[in-house]
Amino acid sequence: MTNPEVGTVAQCSRLADGLYQLVIHAPEIASRAKCGQFVHILCGEGNFLRRPISICDVDAPRLRIVFQVKGEGTKWLSERKAEDKLDLLGPRGRGFDLAKLGAKPVFIGGGIGVPPMLYATKCAQNAGAKPSAILGFRSQSAVILEEDFACPATVCTDDGSYGVHGFVSDVLKQQAAGFTGIAACGPKPMLKAIAAIAQQAGLPCQVSMEERMGCGIGACLVCACALNAENGETRYGHVCKDGPVFDAEEVQW
Ligand SMILES: Cc1cc2nc3c(=O)[nH]c(=O)nc-3n(C[C@H](O)[C@H](O)[C@H](O)COP(=O)(O)OP(=O)(O)OC[C@H]3O[C@@H](n4cnc5c(N)ncnc54)[C@H](O)[C@@H]3O)c2cc1C
Ligand code: FES
Repeated sequence: MTNPEVGTVAQCSRLADGLYQLVIHAPEIASRAKCGQFVHILCGEGNFLRRPISICDVDAPRLRIVFQVKGEGTKWLSERKAEDKLDLLGPRGRGFDLAKLGAKPVFIGGGIGVPPMLYATKCAQNAGAKPSAILGFRSQSAVILEEDFACPATVCTDDGSYGVHGFVSDVLKQQAAGFTGIAACGPKPMLKAIAAIAQQAGLPCQVSMEERMGCGIGACLVCACALNAENGETRYGHVCKDGPVFDAEEVQW
């Protein structure tokens, strides 16, 4: 169990409608963060439960998070100003296992699943791989972070208002033969479609699962996720502790 770190907000900015970015000075967490992990943030004194937000990027001693305003906690976060203090736990969870994704991995993000892919592509590059990215958004107005990716990135939109018209899974189907492994984060139907393509193409695939969280330390079972046990039965994993990243083959879709 990690001790809380009091981070200092360096910058809070709006990226698109309802989407915000926070740059936080948090040397302890920044020095240990691996791609695919998250920070568990106390969002104001009235909000007893911490909120999990993925690590989008690390430039030690700072880390960056990008989030969508959903309810009270994320609204509070979006109202932070430079020099405000943040109570953080992290880095939390199991991130991507880059060694299993080979020399040409592809990182696929859908909507608010795009931010963790930024740090993942950077870590893959630092490890000597040649990553690509496929980034999917609802429409042009929701496109974020495109310019931050330093690897080849295909952007697609559901309505065709920007980039390729279609879903990330359509793009993956066309390009799968060029990759050695797949990592994905986004809505469950998207992850399910990607897992099926990976299986057909015989590619290793890791998915970052999102479940509602309570304690964030494996104690409350709120974040249980159904997984395949070796004997063919069902076992439950904790997204907060055993995940959020799982092998796609482990997950019961
Ligand atoms: C591993 C992980 C990484 C995440 N990374 C990001 C990210 O990078 N950017 C981003 O915008 N969102 C991310 N989320 C979702 C984010 O945690 C929720 O949108 C946020 O907790 C909602 O809190 P709220 O108070 O605004 O909303 P409310 O709906 O008011 O939240 C009420 C309670 O439900 C929990 N909760 C609600 N929705 C979720 C959810 N989808 N997942 C987990 N707990 C939830 C909250 O923690 C809180 O305890 C992530 C979720 C997980 C599990
Ligand atoms: S959030 Fe409590 S066990 Fe995962």
